[in-house]
Amino acid sequence: MLHLVGLGLADEKDITVRGLEIVKKAERVYLEAYTAILLVDKSKLEEFYGRPVIEADRELVESGSDDILAGADKTDIAFLVVGDPFGATTHTDLVLRARELGIQTNVVPNASIMSGIGCTGLQLYNFGQTVSMVFFTENWKPSSFYDKVRENAQIGLHTLVLLDIKVKEQSMENLARGRRIFEPPRYMTVAQCASQLVETEETRQEGVYHADSLAVGAARVGAPDQKIVVGTLEELSSVDLGAPLHSLVLLGRRTHDLERDYIRQFAVDEKTFDASYQKYYGHST
Ligand SMILES: C[S@@+](CC[C@H](N)C(=O)[O-])C[C@H]1O[C@@H](n2cnc3c(N)ncnc32)[C@H](O)[C@@H]1O
Repeated sequence: MLHLVGLGLADEKDITVRGLEIVKKAERVYLEAYTAILLVDKSKLEEFYGRPVIEADRELVESGSDDILAGADKTDIAFLVVGDPFGATTHTDLVLRARELGIQTNVVPNASIMSGIGCTGLQLYNFGQTVSMVFFTENWKPSSFYDKVRENAQIGLHTLVLLDIKVKEQSMENLARGRRIFEPPRYMTVAQCASQLVETEETRQEGVYHADSLAVGAARVGAPDQKIVVGTLEELSSVDLGAPLHSLVLLGRRTHDLERDYIRQFAVDEKTFDASYQKYYGHST
């Protein structure tokens, strides 16, 4: 059987008891290592599980999935996913491939950033579509997220923005020369995301949000050093929330008084918070 096991959000101890039992008895254990990272090294996991873990990069999962599935009709293979196996990462293609090969599948859920973001005090019921923000380059600044934010904003909902992760990236030169040399991993910060949001508004100029709109930055959700900061996009463009992973929430107009009171405690500056809040939020229609 193929077991997709959620690892939760922070460290090796966030795996569930059921997940750990599977990991201990599986023939091979893979760790999906490109859509999210745990806040500890792979060696910590291996020590805790008492067995080796094979890192599965995008190439292996997307092109070499039959290697992962080899033998899973007779033995147990564990495929570990940070967060929840189906939370903001769709491993449905792996499950479909397993089904095609007549291999049974089992999913062990866990906490996801999609639910963990509730630690900000914003109610999960009040979120609209989740969007992703990729690293802009000089010539490539995709803004499809902007239209989704608009749809959410039109009905007053918050938008969770998940931030780009670049692992196993090759420079143009290494790519052109076919050299398998990889750049160091990069994880987008709340500050980079906030400034790209402002840049996009400046380009599109459709008033979906503004440089003085409020957003919530969340870093290392679920870890002991989790950090939450609230401010205008302009303010967040220069905050330092430390080590990855980071996420950002654009505040929706229909913010409830309780949500406001809760997030205000994380304000970079209470005066700018109150001013922006008065200008744009707390309205139900
Ligand atoms: C593609 S999603 C993968 C989500 C994962 N499968 C889950 O269920 O949480 C990865 C993005 O979620 C966000 N994220 C994941 N874990 C996080 C954490 N502990 N704290 C803050 N953001 C997190 C980051 O923006 C990261 O780039």
